Amino acid sequence: MSTAPTPPDNPLRDPRDRRLPRIAGPAGLVIFGVTGDLAKRKLLPAIYDLANRGLLPPSFALTGFARRDWSTEDFAQIVHDAVREHARTEFSERTWEQLASGFRFVQGEFDDDAAFDTLAETVAALDAERGTGGNHAFYLSVPPRSFPLVLNQLKRSGLSEPTTDAWRRVIIEKPFGHNLESALELDDVVSEVFPEDSVFRIDHYLGKETVQNILAMRFANQLFEPVWNNHYVDHVQITMAEDIGIGSRAGYYDGIGAARDVIQNHLLQLLALTAMEEPFSFDANSLRREKEKVLSAVRLGEDLGRSTARGQYAAGWQGGEHVRGYHEEDGIAPDSITETYAAMRLEVDSRRWAGVPFYLRAGKRLGRRVTEIAVVFKRAPHLPFDLGTSGELGQNAIVFRVQPDEGVTIRFGAKVPGTAMEVRDVSMDFGYGNAFTENSPEAYERLILDVLLGDPPLFPHQREVELSWQILDPITEYWESAGSPEPYRPGSWGPASADEMLARDGRRWRMP
Ligand code: BG6
Repeated sequence: MSTAPTPPDNPLRDPRDRRLPRIAGPAGLVIFGVTGDLAKRKLLPAIYDLANRGLLPPSFALTGFARRDWSTEDFAQIVHDAVREHARTEFSERTWEQLASGFRFVQGEFDDDAAFDTLAETVAALDAERGTGGNHAFYLSVPPRSFPLVLNQLKRSGLSEPTTDAWRRVIIEKPFGHNLESALELDDVVSEVFPEDSVFRIDHYLGKETVQNILAMRFANQLFEPVWNNHYVDHVQITMAEDIGIGSRAGYYDGIGAARDVIQNHLLQLLALTAMEEPFSFDANSLRREKEKVLSAVRLGEDLGRSTARGQYAAGWQGGEHVRGYHEEDGIAPDSITETYAAMRLEVDSRRWAGVPFYLRAGKRLGRRVTEIAVVFKRAPHLPFDLGTSGELGQNAIVFRVQPDEGVTIRFGAKVPGTAMEVRDVSMDFGYGNAFTENSPEAYERLILDVLLGDPPLFPHQREVELSWQILDPITEYWESAGSPEPYRPGSWGPASADEMLARDGRRWRMP
């Protein structure tokens, strides 16, 4: 029996084949919170970029839902401005016209039944007029307090209800609660309306190319995995430093702080990807299962006063500019104890990682914007050189440079040219910019496309969310009872207590 060969350039040939361009089928996306900063800076430009790369079908429709009294034309103008300002790819009139013909805007409050009924009619009309085929995703880019309201409205209006041959999906932006208890409550609300396989929780770090590269590096090569364990690894440092302050986000950030904002999600996901065992395959279940195992095995230090550190940025000079301290930021109470810097020492209780500390740190108003994972190796057990001439030899390290200069650095010792046997640290770099001609897509491009394709590996499961809160809750509870965070200078690398935490182990933070 012969089967007709599938044309090799048919991108729809096999959706499991990730080497091929993946194109979404007929679908619509509704964004709640479309007037917000995230929508303008990330979501709307990402949708345009997907369309420009030919990854959205011509029938794609985008509906904005917001309180503003806008017409669809006003909405289109807002999208246009956001695209012009923030899109990654060049502006194309052709792409824009095709995309904009699928725009709709529905005005209303989240507690307004009539507005959701109008939304349901709009979505049904899109199926008839544009061929979205009944497939719709709902993006909740709204404050967490509005989640229950919007979800219940989606249910009441029938919008969450799939048909036999069409899907309905929901996309939830972090924070998924502010502790374990609230995460469970949120999940109760979500699971009342959508089954787990229709829920896509966004942790945008998982959409970053360099984060996916951790798995490619580890599991597509023979080189790294044999040394990826406590026989060779001394410790791991995961850093997410930002040079900006909280800007206009006081309402969200105060009372949340650095640990809940980025360690509970982004940094613990990076830890899980760095420490996990090889997944059985690259499907969502296998990947999530391995990450869950790591998160379940994470252990905190017994004395949280010594194994964690936190700080708050003071006023001062950064980059030649005087910047306000956290307490002087608009909307922040002068006695707020919210941390803008958090560091912690964790261990992973497994045969592979026993005894290897994982140091995590994240903060705002630090020296520069950089996210990296540094796997630092033990020193060679014996050096056949004169110690005096090998004095500048540090520890070997593999550093995943997540951003901004995306790539991987390997640090090792090499002989200094000359007659003496002097060994010094050098590095070998792989940079995305040099190695590939394609630019990395934005994380949101990848993630929005994956939602439309129904492809879940890059979205954390509720269980991962819960495990991450389980790790963090004792720390944030301890901090709440431990007074004010230590002030640090803007442009510095955080509070002295974070340095002391490593110094107690005879180690130092890397200077990224
Ligand atoms: C978000 C945090 O998840 O990530 C922000 O809420 C932070 O506080 C942002 O600024 C950083 O994202 P990126 O992609 O610029 O590293």
